[in-house]
Amino acid sequence: MRIAVFDSHRYDRTALEAANSDYHHELTFFEARLTEQTASLAQGFPAVCSFVNDHLDRAALTSLQSHGVRLIALRSAGYNHVDLVAASDLGMTVARVPEYSPHAVAEHAVALILGLNRKIPKAHARVREGNFTLDGLVGFDLFGKTVGIIGTGRIGQTFARIMQGFGCRVIASDPDPDPAQAAAIGYTYVDQLTLFQESDIISLHVPLSEKTWHLINPATVQLLKPGVMLINTGRGGLIDAQSLIDGLKANRIGAAGLDVYEEEEGIFFSDLSEGGVQDDVLARLMTFPNVLITAHQAFLTEEALANIANTTLGNVTAFERGEPLVNAVKAI
Ligand code: NAI
Repeated sequence: MRIAVFDSHRYDRTALEAANSDYHHELTFFEARLTEQTASLAQGFPAVCSFVNDHLDRAALTSLQSHGVRLIALRSAGYNHVDLVAASDLGMTVARVPEYSPHAVAEHAVALILGLNRKIPKAHARVREGNFTLDGLVGFDLFGKTVGIIGTGRIGQTFARIMQGFGCRVIASDPDPDPAQAAAIGYTYVDQLTLFQESDIISLHVPLSEKTWHLINPATVQLLKPGVMLINTGRGGLIDAQSLIDGLKANRIGAAGLDVYEEEEGIFFSDLSEGGVQDDVLARLMTFPNVLITAHQAFLTEEALANIANTTLGNVTAFERGEPLVNAVKAI
């Protein structure tokens, strides 16, 4: 099948071309993000392949459909950037990659914790300058600290296992708990209020939905243990960025590790080093010495990219053959 791959970078191309030796689709790569404005590039392609910062609202989907697109093959697990109701109205199929490497994301969350706690970026910058002093680099032992996990799905449980290995006390909240895994891994379910109050580190591993939007907001920031480290590798919209800034300024939040940002679309995955960052909230966050930001790279491991490519192309093949599409996503 002819597939238009949007928001494609060198690493996407390498992984998709390698996987395609088993699928034999016709891949065309576009660097542009998929939006209403770029949808016409998909003229003549029955399938488009899209990533997290594409913008698949009703207008974009309507345009895609008018150009002959029938399948949206997401190379992501999250699908909050797609108007599923509109896709259904337009008779378009949406498929995703539900799991590609929970390890990639969980391990990146741990990298943010360690980078922040042991002040690795600051230490590295100092050493490169020939400054070998240690003042200002004091961290804390992870051993014995309480780690709160919001969302114990695939990634949350993988993260729980790693933090358990550090000797942390791991607590979690999830409306759909998994007591068997909790017992096997050794974490305990608590209500969200207890998690907010008792955690030294909180890591967010929930999908973005109406219920989880701004889970961290001015009211919940007040409930956090003073000095808490907040880690977000989920979705930017889980945190109200202004309340994070206020919490950091008031020292209620001690540190934040962010792989996602609510307004990242059009910023992350782009080189803005010449023109600068126009988003004042992100620019403010970037000024804090105790904030570590990565540009939505938690998924970026060789294993995850290979799995994403395989599942994405497999989804297209299943659609082409009219086979049951196990990874289809539908409006609820
Ligand atoms: P999953 O579907 O396996 O688990 C999500 C869990 O969150 C479920 O157990 C669900 O019951 C729980 N949940 C839902 N609402 C909740 C709430 N209000 N409070 C507490 N728990 C709640 O998803 P998975 O694979 O673990 O991924 C989690 C999220 O991570 C994805 O939805 C995606 O947004 C994000 N992600 C980020 C990546 C990155 O590169 N930064 C890469 C992959 C995923």
